[in-house]
Amino acid sequence: MGVVVSFGEKADSGSIDRLVALVREDMGRVNETILARTGSDVTMIPEVAQHLISSGGKRLRPMLTLATARLSRYSGAGHVKLAASVEFMHTATLLHDDVVDESDLRRGKPSARKVWGNEASVLVGDFLLGQAFKMMVEVGSLACLDVLSTAAAVIAEGEVMQLAAAKNTATTEDEYLAVIRAKTAALFAAAAEVGPILAGAEPTAQKACRSYGLNLGIAFQLIDDALDYGGTAAKLGKNVGDDFREGKITLPVVLAFRRGSDEERGFWRAALEEGRSDDAALARAIELLRRHRAIEDTIERARHYGAMAKDALALFPPSDMREALDEVVDFCISRAH
Ligand code: IPE
Ligand code: IPE
Ligand code: MG
Ligand code: MG
Repeated sequence: MGVVVSFGEKADSGSIDRLVALVREDMGRVNETILARTGSDVTMIPEVAQHLISSGGKRLRPMLTLATARLSRYSGAGHVKLAASVEFMHTATLLHDDVVDESDLRRGKPSARKVWGNEASVLVGDFLLGQAFKMMVEVGSLACLDVLSTAAAVIAEGEVMQLAAAKNTATTEDEYLAVIRAKTAALFAAAAEVGPILAGAEPTAQKACRSYGLNLGIAFQLIDDALDYGGTAAKLGKNVGDDFREGKITLPVVLAFRRGSDEERGFWRAALEEGRSDDAALARAIELLRRHRAIEDTIERARHYGAMAKDALALFPPSDMREALDEVVDFCISRAH
């Protein structure tokens, strides 16, 4: 199930290739660290963790840490462990999130909860969180520990906020934004902020990197929520329509609900609040989203946050790294995966 979504006339030809190339060596060390730190005598732990980690993922968040450390002229080695911590936090939230969302497909493979069950997924997620904090302590920057531990708490708050808003079609755009700021953008922001902190950069540089991460994270989740209706499972590596079946209130739905007729609002309530969300209902939902330009306008909002992310970085003198981070914004907005 999928529809062709127009991403607008302006081609966003973003790519993460330049960033990948610029952080390649550091990322090699991050991957070694990740591998080493998933080890445990309790064999189920590396099994479950490696199942998810070896299926790839874009590694966007750790790359932000590596890149912003370099952008701030950091020359030590602590950024590698911090980047690995950031990816562990992300991996842990995915393990937990797939349990909460009852998702069966992740990174193109059966989710860990599908293979080993919910209990194992939750517990291995906890293990990875613990390892993440151990690495942060090893790096020894209390300021970085502060930023990342705050993010961990905020992510959990975001997931709980979302749970409380589930199946509630009265959710407003502002409430939705508060959820995605917390559950997704907080980690992007923290990942980008610890680079300059570690480098001992000026507070203005630190704030700029944080703002870049935060706005990029919001744009990223907006696109993710558009793709849940307009993408394809083959490209996304996760099932489309999951949000609809779960009764999750994302921006496309908020917009279509608000712009719809009484009859259409009745449809949304039946689908999202009462769970009448079979394939025929999903097809109708997609038709309504199209009629009310809800996907296009979600993407438009993402562009707005993307522009703010780029503006935040304008404080830094032009460099390859700054350009690469600019391209990441375009990548996140035009991505289909
Ligand atoms: C998935 O993030 C979770 C969201 C915040 C939507 P990514 O799309 O970055 O996941 P991977 O790591 O590339 O699989
Ligand atoms: C991503 O949220 C998980 C977190 C940010 C904690 P979603 O539930 O919206 O993302 P996917 O679609 O499962 O990747
Ligand atoms: Mg979720
Ligand atoms: Mg999910």
